[in-house]
Amino acid sequence: MKLSKRLGQLKSMVAADYQHIWDCCCDHGLLGASLLTKDRQHNTRATIHFVDIVPELMHTLSRKLNQFYPLEDYNWQTHCLDVTQLPLKDFQGKHLVIIAGVGGDLMMRFIDTIIKNHPNTDIDFLLCPVHHQFALRKLLRSYQFSLKQESLIEENKRFYEILLVSNQSNKNAEISPTGKAIWQADSKQQAVICQNYLEKTLAHYQRIELGGNNLASEAIKVYKTQLFNDQQGKPTPFKFHLKIK
Ligand SMILES: C[S@@+](CC[C@H](N)C(=O)[O-])C[C@H]1O[C@@H](n2cnc3c(N)ncnc32)[C@H](O)[C@@H]1O
Repeated sequence: MKLSKRLGQLKSMVAADYQHIWDCCCDHGLLGASLLTKDRQHNTRATIHFVDIVPELMHTLSRKLNQFYPLEDYNWQTHCLDVTQLPLKDFQGKHLVIIAGVGGDLMMRFIDTIIKNHPNTDIDFLLCPVHHQFALRKLLRSYQFSLKQESLIEENKRFYEILLVSNQSNKNAEISPTGKAIWQADSKQQAVICQNYLEKTLAHYQRIELGGNNLASEAIKVYKTQLFNDQQGKPTPFKFHLKIK
C-alpha cells in the first residue's frame, strides 16, 4: 500500500543502525510493514516491533503480517501493550522507538516513562506529534537529548514536525526550542510551507496567550528571538527569508 507523505518521510528517516525498531501506536501497522520491506531490501535484519494498546487491531495485524510477511523471511513481533510498558530490556542491541500520530502531551508522557524505565539504555526516538511541538522540544531539551535530524512537512493542510533524537547528550547537536533545519527551505515550495507553518504557529500561540497561557507567551518570545533578530527587525539569514506579520 502506498504510504502517505508523512509516513513516507518517517520511513526515509530510519537509518540502518538499529537491531530493534518499535513502531509504537502502530494502528494498522503501515509504517512498520514498510520498514520490513526496507529492511529486507537493505538486508539489515532489524526486528520490527509493532505496538498498540487495542487487542482487535493487534489480532488483525498479526494475521496480516503472517500472511504477507512470513516469519521465515522477515523479523517482526507484535505486542499488545501500553507504550509506557515497552520491554526494551528484553532485547539486546540498539533501539529506535517511533511514536507518531498521537498528541504531543501523550507523547511526552510516553517518553518520560520510557526513559525512566530504561536509564542506561541508548535509545533513539523518531517523533511526529500532533500539536504541542514547542512543549515537546522543551521536554527533550530538559533531558539533554540531542538532535540527529528534523524535518517539516505539510499534508492535507496540516503541518508535521518530525524529530529524530537520541537520549545521549551532544553539545554540538542540541535540540533547538523552535527547530532550525526545518526553517531552512531548499526550494520555493518548501519556503511557502515554512512561512505558512510559522504564521499558523504564531497565530495559535497568540490566541491561547489571550487566555493567560504562560507557555504560549514563552513560545511567542522564543520564536521571535530564535527566528528573527528582534532589535534590528531583520530575519536571520536563511536562503528563503521568513516574514513576521
Ligand atoms: C492515529 S493512530 C496513529 C497511527 C500511526 N502511528 C500514524 O502515525 O499514522 C493512534 C494509535 O495509537 C494507539 N494508542 C493510543 N494510546 C496508546 C497507548 N497508551 N499505548 C499504545 N497504543 C496507543 C491507538 O490505539 C491508535 O491505534
